[in-house]
Amino acid sequence: MFRISHFIRELDHPTPAGPRRNPPGPVVIWNLIRRCNLTCEHCYSISADKDFPGELDTAEVFKVMDDLKAARVPVLILSGGEPLLRPDIFDIARRAKGMGFYVALSSNGTLIDEGNIDAIDGIGFDYVGVSLDGIGATHDHFRRKQGAFDASLAGIRLCLARGIKVGVRYTMTEGNAHDLRGLLKLVEDEGIDKFYFSHLNYAGRGNKHRAGDARHRTTREAMELLFETCLDLHRRGIDKDFVTGNNDADGVFLLHWVRRRFPDRVAHVEAKLRQWGGNASGVNVANIDNLGVVHPDTMWWHVPLGNVRQRAFGEIWNDLSDPLLAGLKQHPRRLEGRCGACRHIDICNGSSRVRAGQVTGNPWAEDPACYLSDDEIGVTPADYGRERVVTTPWVRLQKVDA
Ligand SMILES: C[S@@+](CC[C@H](N)C(=O)[O-])C[C@H]1O[C@@H](n2cnc3c(N)ncnc32)[C@H](O)[C@@H]1O
Ligand code: SF4
Repeated sequence: MFRISHFIRELDHPTPAGPRRNPPGPVVIWNLIRRCNLTCEHCYSISADKDFPGELDTAEVFKVMDDLKAARVPVLILSGGEPLLRPDIFDIARRAKGMGFYVALSSNGTLIDEGNIDAIDGIGFDYVGVSLDGIGATHDHFRRKQGAFDASLAGIRLCLARGIKVGVRYTMTEGNAHDLRGLLKLVEDEGIDKFYFSHLNYAGRGNKHRAGDARHRTTREAMELLFETCLDLHRRGIDKDFVTGNNDADGVFLLHWVRRRFPDRVAHVEAKLRQWGGNASGVNVANIDNLGVVHPDTMWWHVPLGNVRQRAFGEIWNDLSDPLLAGLKQHPRRLEGRCGACRHIDICNGSSRVRAGQVTGNPWAEDPACYLSDDEIGVTPADYGRERVVTTPWVRLQKVDA
């Protein structure tokens, strides 16, 4: 996760740069249910409106929460499928809040209504994220449900009216990129607190539809727009969080943008970007799926690390016998191709390794979604033509049924 707004604030109000500090335990994104009332084109969890047997029941979820506390996990993001379809979602969220976790709800928003807004408000969620993948028909097409946009926006407005911190989450492909500007305007007009820009990752249905991923040029234009919008709002005294996910090359792109726009701030921003350190999958971000299986993050459902029904979360998370988890935690990571040669690896940390794994079978190969030019990563083709030879014990890409 890359916090654009954090770095934009540093332009006007610099704070001292220090060494990178890891939180005591990872942020856990927890897919409590795989069922969903939508069937989005890009969905990594391949959710649908049907029961998925074998999910953790309430007592099991509570027990796992105790394990997560013992593993010093600070943040729980309750997700799905659609988490509001779990009848015990508020019992789970209430207990999580009572245990002192920062608790966020990750929802498609269509099921937030007058009937449950009191309960949502009563929990005291620290944050509610609602997905909007375009305006009106674009969103409905992407999410394969007519009326989804209106229902999600109504859900957002109900939350805002209660003073709940709300964010819009947008996953960009070539098919919905034209609505980014409109969404940013909606975020300002509606007084929404946060905008989360998610790059497409090649997982689940997102992998099946990866040919529709945004072209590099589209991504570059989108990032410029995000930086300029965030700066403009900041300078107008409107404080919002702008965050991106699934492509940590965004940090390096920001550095080049700062070099052009605020040359006197480059050294400071570069030091801050190094302190951030790029991709944190398998390090500061973890995932538990609906069956209790732990993964390095949500986009790695094809890589099981262990099941919380059999072993405590902390034990699974610290077990480096899995070559992928060990490789993700290694610092610096042993990367190949352009990523291996890149001068800014200490800023990006090789980004998400999922796309390389899905496209080539080798999770340490260069990320096909890195949209930076050779100049911007400080290499020539000869540099990455002379790849270091890295033998990778990588064999376990499992088939996911789509
Ligand atoms: C799996 S959904 C679960 C919560 C809820 N159903 C929703 O759609 O917001 C969590 C978030 O992941 C995003 N997402 C799903 N598949 C993705 C993919 N392949 N690449 C990037 N983001 C993805 C969704 O758009 C959504 O914002
Ligand atoms: S992305 Fe969310 S709303 Fe869409 S199908 Fe997946 S779980 Fe459901």
